Amino acid sequence: AIERTLSIIKPDATRRNLTGKINAKFEDAGLRIVAQKRIHLTPAQAGIFYEVHKERPFYGELCDFMASEPVVVQVLEGEGAIAKNREVMGATNPADAAAGTVRAEFAESVGENSVHGSDAPETAAAEIAYFFSGLELVG
Ligand code: CMP
Repeated sequence: AIERTLSIIKPDATRRNLTGKINAKFEDAGLRIVAQKRIHLTPAQAGIFYEVHKERPFYGELCDFMASEPVVVQVLEGEGAIAKNREVMGATNPADAAAGTVRAEFAESVGENSVHGSDAPETAAAEIAYFFSGLELVG
């Protein structure tokens, strides 16, 4: 089925001017960028986004990192977009990420891992709604 997923190009990647190279990987995999904006989150806004992780030891560090510099939030659309995006991103820890994936090529560490992608249809819908209104999604 055609799906939409929420993607974030994280501060470690925007800082190194990697937005275009990462977007090329998404587009080459058949994912269409149907919405995209560059924003600078506050730690509180990052905290709401990552609420499911709030009991984890890295939660504070994760929120501060996500608010440290601008991010690019985007909606990717395509056949099986959620799984396809996760394939293009590679494993969370770049040390485990397959060759050619975004995280294998660009991520600096498990925390500063260049990209986020929704993990399931329900989270994708909630994460898209957190950043975008219906009017901003241009399929
Ligand atoms: P993401 O896919 O955005 O979802 C949650 C994030 O938490 C994850 O990517 C990592 O960036 C971060 N994360 C996961 N595990 C750790 C860890 N052990 N230390 C620091 N950050 C982590």
